[in-house]
Amino acid sequence: MERQLKTRWAGRVIRQFEDIDSTNLEAVRQFKEGAPHGTLVIAESQAAGKGRLGRAWISPEGTGIWMSLLLKPALAPWSASMLTLVCAMAVTKGIREAAGLETQIKWPNDVVWNGRKLCGILTEMSTREQEIRYVVTGVGINVNMTEFPEQAGGQAVSLRQALGHPVERETLIARILEAFEAYYEVFEAAEDLSGLRDAYNRQLVNLGRQVKVLDPMEPFQGEALGIDSQGNLLVKMPDGGIRTVRSGEVSVRGIYGYAL
Ligand code: BTN
Repeated sequence: MERQLKTRWAGRVIRQFEDIDSTNLEAVRQFKEGAPHGTLVIAESQAAGKGRLGRAWISPEGTGIWMSLLLKPALAPWSASMLTLVCAMAVTKGIREAAGLETQIKWPNDVVWNGRKLCGILTEMSTREQEIRYVVTGVGINVNMTEFPEQAGGQAVSLRQALGHPVERETLIARILEAFEAYYEVFEAAEDLSGLRDAYNRQLVNLGRQVKVLDPMEPFQGEALGIDSQGNLLVKMPDGGIRTVRSGEVSVRGIYGYAL
């Protein structure tokens, strides 16, 4: 992979493992050992892969991409959640370039095809005195699975299932890292998503559609208008008012199911 990778810092240092507990946990260990910004941790399988909201992420051997990037951004801690959206954009671009498949983003950061989930992203951060020590962005992509366990509930799909043939993982990782580095630099210069927002919204599966916002206090439904420059989802209410939904706080669903 190093041979085909055209980046300056993303994935310039790669730590590769056969089996690991979680690449996110390993990226934190690498940080503690002094690994540089952009270090990539990648594993063939994970015994304790972590998903969002404390869920487990099933990571069988050899069929997926299980990887984490260690980042040390000079940004305010509250901007770190936007990196997850940057990463989702990089995954869709990488998939388009390496596999020729058009995918979409389910706000804030799932990559979907045909309304089913191809990729999940888990960003974790550590701060000290209002400064970021590190951000770890973990990416799990269903690449070559031919079936999924029942607990995926019919919601998951792999690139192989979408395309009808297997996909070479190394090329895909290289294209994602290149896209990530380019998008990250646009984000870092603006310290928000103003330079990426239009491109993000063009990929948004929910755009112009009714969504259910699963706010535990007060769930509501409205039309998704796209993100603002902070990565929040703007939702038009039936009375014409606009509500701002902050990423990381609530989940959003389509009115018929997971994405649509
Ligand atoms: C989600 O729930 O949608 C997020 C899933 C993130 C999974 C990836 S796999 C690589 C990295 N290591 C982990 O333990 N989790 C992330």
